[in-house]
Amino acid sequence: MLRMNSIRCNAAGLVTKRAAGPWTNSRVHSLLTIATICLAMAGLESHASAQAAPSTSPHPANQVAHTSNAQLADPNIEVRVDRLLRQMTLEEKIGQLVQYNDTGDAAPAPSADKAGAMAAVNPEAIHHVNATQLAAAGRLGSMLNTIGAERTNTYQHLAVEQGRLHIPLLFGADVIHGFRTIYPVPLGLAASFDPELVADVSRMAAEEATTAGVRWFYSPMVDISRDPRWGRSTESAGEDPWLGAAMARAYIRGYQGDDLSKPGSVAASVKHFAAYGAAEAGREYNTTDMSEITLRQIYLPPYQAAVEAGAATIMSAFNSLNGVPASANPFLLKQILRGEWGFNGFVVSDYTSVMELIHHGIALDAATATRKALTAGVDVDMMSHFYDAELPELIRSGQVSMAVVDEAVRRVLRVKFATGLFEHPYAEGVEITSAVAGHRPLVRKAAEESFVLLQNDKLAGGARLLPLSPAGKRVALIGPLADDAEEMVGAWGGAGTNHDIVTLRQALTERARQAGGALLYARGTGIDDPSLDGFPEAVQAAAAADVVVLALGESSSMSGEGGSRAKLDLPGNQQQLLESIAATGKPVVLLIFSGRPLVLEWASKHVPAIMAVWFPGTEAGNAIANVLYGDVSPSGKLPMSFPRTVGQEPLYYNQFPTGRPPTGIDISRPPSGEERFFSRYIDVPNSALFPFGYGLSYSSFAYRDVKVSKTSIPLAQALANRSTPLLEATATVTNTGDRTATEVVQCYVRNLGASIEQPVRSLKGFERVTLAPGESKQVSVALGFNELSFFNVESSPAMEATQYTVWIGGSSLANQEATFDVVSHPGTTDAH
Ligand code: BGC
Repeated sequence: MLRMNSIRCNAAGLVTKRAAGPWTNSRVHSLLTIATICLAMAGLESHASAQAAPSTSPHPANQVAHTSNAQLADPNIEVRVDRLLRQMTLEEKIGQLVQYNDTGDAAPAPSADKAGAMAAVNPEAIHHVNATQLAAAGRLGSMLNTIGAERTNTYQHLAVEQGRLHIPLLFGADVIHGFRTIYPVPLGLAASFDPELVADVSRMAAEEATTAGVRWFYSPMVDISRDPRWGRSTESAGEDPWLGAAMARAYIRGYQGDDLSKPGSVAASVKHFAAYGAAEAGREYNTTDMSEITLRQIYLPPYQAAVEAGAATIMSAFNSLNGVPASANPFLLKQILRGEWGFNGFVVSDYTSVMELIHHGIALDAATATRKALTAGVDVDMMSHFYDAELPELIRSGQVSMAVVDEAVRRVLRVKFATGLFEHPYAEGVEITSAVAGHRPLVRKAAEESFVLLQNDKLAGGARLLPLSPAGKRVALIGPLADDAEEMVGAWGGAGTNHDIVTLRQALTERARQAGGALLYARGTGIDDPSLDGFPEAVQAAAAADVVVLALGESSSMSGEGGSRAKLDLPGNQQQLLESIAATGKPVVLLIFSGRPLVLEWASKHVPAIMAVWFPGTEAGNAIANVLYGDVSPSGKLPMSFPRTVGQEPLYYNQFPTGRPPTGIDISRPPSGEERFFSRYIDVPNSALFPFGYGLSYSSFAYRDVKVSKTSIPLAQALANRSTPLLEATATVTNTGDRTATEVVQCYVRNLGASIEQPVRSLKGFERVTLAPGESKQVSVALGFNELSFFNVESSPAMEATQYTVWIGGSSLANQEATFDVVSHPGTTDAH
């Protein structure tokens, strides 16, 4: 089930079919200083903990405050880099700056239908790259999606033994949510609100992949996604910067550990820098355009958190930002990334994004695209075949200085030395080639924690439908996702294989067998299938059962790269199937498999139980069964809002206020008279159907005593020490139900009275709390400059004398609050 992106579309609108598999040379893509910043300041690495607050940028911009990764700043490495660099020819240097996939001796020929268009755009990349020759000549720096000990070692032997300077290759791969043992898609993982778990699964994936020669992951994707039409929402942590930053740190910690050279560590590539998730209208690769304040306050925090956690590399994005493509954007790559954040790893372009500068219209030819990308700060050219083709002449003609090339090469070599590649260039240990039995409990736990129970109504007898009682009930399992192993893995299934996957049908059959019963099963329909042929059998199965488990949703390939959708409904005729099954009157548990929020308005009115299960991975069936039967209580919370209708998008909880809030108006019905002159729709409420942070449990939780430790903070104190907490917000949470369960306690803040309007609320802390029935715990959240500041008109982090409201509760609708003031003069409330 090797898979990657299902369909790829280039800027010219060409579509290529899914390659036979990832990481084979049949994976064909659609198309193929400025002053050097001194980054050698040692000793200031910040491997921030997953819960630590992200620090804000220093200002004024353009200052290198520190280096982001101490290992890369090791003076011993610098000595080795210097020595090597002195011996390198221009061609060898340029070689370190190019990356190809496994083209073997000859690049694959493009299929007839796209050969013409591709040749017109980028003839070189397709026809003239010979990765084998380049590796042996010491003119290839890294390879992408070339996996397996045999394949990587073959190339590595060429580079290390035949290359004049014996510089090893760095093998990178899209390991996004597991290598052989697959865990939930990142959006699902984010629903766990569990950074420790994310670090654990990331480490597990790194340990598996290094046995296959992979030492570099194109992950984490930390793009904020506020619009579920964007297919890559599935690879994100959703709509919130605070959650996104916590997840970003956790991935880096898991992948890189505390030492890049330790066995089982891989270098991370944080992607896609920057603001790719804000693609207009949710359309893949589309333009992004936003204020610098929104960029800094909403979109940048997760990238910055990853950089501060020591990420070794970063990937420049496909999109343009405010008119400047991210892969030739000095504001992003020099001013912010290197200048403000002190990033001392290297920057790799996204797949042919250097070449795509031509499509963006900022370069008329390959030479200009190369010059703009490299001098803006893109060190490595992934697949464009521009750097190796164009740089020799650009250097000879003086259009690009040797110093720029040298610095880019240094950055690459530093990572190669830090990862220990020179000492251990080959895949080590016993190669892992299938899901690891010992890893199954961890990925099962990850899946269980990722599920979000959206609805669980009481039935006529007064009991809630879930959890299902262990015995005595006849269960009908219906739907196209009930028994489809391939669809369980999501958009980037790594190198997992179908036979490793436990489907829901398998798991429920086993449960039924143990309980001495039988499972009724009917597929009903396909995922995107107009045929009604399977309906009668499905309806019959439902009619014969006590309870129906209905497994509906998207296919894996409907999200992920190139997976933008303009509709957010159940695909095909699944809505019709849902209605037919509901019409039997049997209680229905609706499981939604998807890589994004879907529109579930009808289901929410007609189906008692709904659970979002995303794409759960290798242990899909067992994890779902465990939650359905109550072995585990669901604890996931939504990382993205589920809309009532696609027309509400982009829909996110941390929106800015308007001058016409519909306070006190019933906006669930069309307006009458003056009711229309508010910020509202006339045909649908403003709110999400299921908002950010929301998710039910089999138990229940109550909050009380939401308090702040101080009601007045002197502004001078807040500004003087930006890293010490200013106050604590606390609340007591009690498990009021009858079973042990876990709640994600969330803390939201609003700032009123500032010179710039602030979101109606923003997440500033969370904690997973497990409580026995009747048990209570006081939870506290430290609030300091990082949590309370905002970006002012100069795009500088600021605090002013203003008023704050804090809510603590179980979702973004938390309604118990406390307030405090930041005051210019102690003893006053002078701000507002
Ligand atoms: C994607 C990246 C990915 C790269 C390499 C690109 O098309 O945008 O996320 O890492 O391909 O496969």
